[in-house]
Amino acid sequence: MTAPVRYRLIKTEKHTGARLGELITPHGTFPTPMFMPVGTQASVKLMSPEELKEMGAGVILSNTYHLWLRPGPEIVKEAGGLHKFMNWDQGILTDSGGFQVFSLAENRDITEEGVHFRSHLSGEKMFLSPEKAIQIENDLGPDIMMSLDECPPFFESYEYVRDSVARTSRWAERGLKAHCNPDTQGLFGIVQGAGFQDLREQSAKDLVSLDFPGYSIGGLSVGESKAEMNHVLDFTTPLLPENKPRYLMGVGSPDALIDGVIRGIDMFDCVLPTRIARNGTVMTHHGRLIVKNAKYAHDFTPLDPDCDCYTCTHYSRAYIRHLIKADETFGLRLTTYHNLYFLIHLMADVRQAIMDDNLIEFRQNLFDEYGYSDA
Ligand code: GUN
Ligand code: ZN
Repeated sequence: MTAPVRYRLIKTEKHTGARLGELITPHGTFPTPMFMPVGTQASVKLMSPEELKEMGAGVILSNTYHLWLRPGPEIVKEAGGLHKFMNWDQGILTDSGGFQVFSLAENRDITEEGVHFRSHLSGEKMFLSPEKAIQIENDLGPDIMMSLDECPPFFESYEYVRDSVARTSRWAERGLKAHCNPDTQGLFGIVQGAGFQDLREQSAKDLVSLDFPGYSIGGLSVGESKAEMNHVLDFTTPLLPENKPRYLMGVGSPDALIDGVIRGIDMFDCVLPTRIARNGTVMTHHGRLIVKNAKYAHDFTPLDPDCDCYTCTHYSRAYIRHLIKADETFGLRLTTYHNLYFLIHLMADVRQAIMDDNLIEFRQNLFDEYGYSDA
């Protein structure tokens, strides 16, 4: 039996820890480093699967918590799994629900057994355990699934984070035992530990001893500075096995993507590109642009003159601004398409830079053009 999810390291960049590789899943092989669009409720907001494929998306993300509450895993299972249900034949990864319970649910109470909470939709009392999360993910049928974890606040006390990390390790082990489809679905463990080096080390050591087919790094991009996040990655990624994929959860700004890649991260996801797009903001090679602004009313140039996506090759800033102002949904479809294309193609450029061993120069150019100051 071969593992359903495998990683093949092709090369490491000469001057950094960046890795060029491939993620092999039951629904295809995808080049890494990669960015995964988020489709929380089995839909990447405003995009069709055909559009996602056309822009080069490989793996997309969905959420156990949301699909558990609505429509319920039984219905997705009855449809033949998430791939069939949503008409997506490429990779799917589901988050375990831990993070969403902590950010959305009401009256949370965390115990050794799991998390009690009230649904943010119905108010109904619910209970999520590591076994329940796996059972739901087995029913949903993604290629990659996450263990139930707790994501403590970055500036939580040492004692709290220490106990939380130990519990997350026990939950990971329970999840692994409960996993019914290890031949078709790869389960990842999630490294936690906030900003504490010894706790990140303990977390990584616990999870690596359980031999997951991949490892996620959680608890980051939750309010700490970029420098703090990079510092945690500096000491965390080297603790993870070279022959397994590394996924940095919830990170999607261009600077953080590159700085993660430099530190050996292979996979990223974030709602940022789709969320800001629905707000009328786009990422361009020259920084963020708020296309709703009055100054674009007469601007007939593309959102990003250096982008060759469908939006940028057919529509102007003035037109898209008009659509958004007039509440025409098509405007937000165009900004969403562009933002996802921008990040997916940024990662393709990053892979080329790894191939060419010039990622540091690539980073510097991007930061200069985008207007980031160096962290
Ligand atoms: N998404 C972003 N951060 C996290 C995290 O720490 N845990 C989980 N499960 N999902 C996340
Ligand atoms: Zn574009």
